[in-house]
Amino acid sequence: MVRTSKPNQDPGEKKSLSGAVALITGGSRGIGRAIARQLAVLGASVAICGRDIAALEESARDVAEFGVPVHSQIADVTRPADIANLVSKTETKLGPITILVNNAGIGLFGPAHEKSEPDWDRVLDTNLKSIFLVSRAVAPSMIRRGSGDIINISSLAGKNTFAGGGIYCASKWGVVGLSGCMAEDLREHGIRVSVICPGSVATEFSTRGAKDTSKALSPEDVAHAVEAVVTQGPRSFLSEVHLRPLRKP
Ligand SMILES: NC(=O)c1ccc[n+]([C@@H]2O[C@H](COP(=O)([O-])OP(=O)(O)OC[C@H]3O[C@@H](n4cnc5c(N)ncnc54)[C@H](OP(=O)(O)O)[C@@H]3O)[C@@H](O)[C@H]2O)c1
Repeated sequence: MVRTSKPNQDPGEKKSLSGAVALITGGSRGIGRAIARQLAVLGASVAICGRDIAALEESARDVAEFGVPVHSQIADVTRPADIANLVSKTETKLGPITILVNNAGIGLFGPAHEKSEPDWDRVLDTNLKSIFLVSRAVAPSMIRRGSGDIINISSLAGKNTFAGGGIYCASKWGVVGLSGCMAEDLREHGIRVSVICPGSVATEFSTRGAKDTSKALSPEDVAHAVEAVVTQGPRSFLSEVHLRPLRKP
């Protein structure tokens, strides 16, 4: 298990997300875990899900060290029944979800013509359909309350094309398109939908890998972008964030 470094924090600063309830899908490791830690540092109650119980429990213990209520639950974001259960238990334990981070995702690379139909379904269901399913489960209560933040983690692979990226890029381009349309549907309800498109991030995720991981983004860089999105002034929103490492990997 990769141990994440210290989140961005200023011990003297007022906690800006006190009272918020954040659900982060795929919060058991990598980028999702860093986002969960950062939102906890800011004072939000945090719910995380994943499929690997050991990783999930370790992440939950880690996030709880910041002194906020934490709920962790085994849930597969491709399964509507798991999602319904996750949302219901989160809201019972922590209160209405005010921040949803659709982060869970998988990578699969290689020429699309060499891949199978189950490969396509696995990637598209995890990276794209899950955002439709989880957002659909959370949006009604946000609409009732007239506020909320939904942040979808896409990728620069959702803006670019490259050899071997076919299925993954299709999923992440889909996330960018879905996010833009969700933003238009939900802004009149006071709900802000943002999409974050990071370049290569040093996690266990990618078999492609950055050429030089010392120059890749860190999970904390993405968590910082999420912080920027959720602490943006209430009358505006960051609709699309392209996050690049300063020096090219
Ligand atoms: N790493 C990069 O270079 C990079 C760059 C741009 C964007 N991204 C995107 O950032 C997100 C996080 O990536 P990462 O690098 O942090 O990957 P990671 O370290 O592999 O973590 C992925 C997370 O998603 C969860 N997950 C996967 N499938 C799931 C499912 N069906 N149901 C519930 N949880 C599931 C995993 O938990 P379990 O395995 O326990 O289910 C894990 O917590 C992904 O959407 C990815 O596409 C990554």
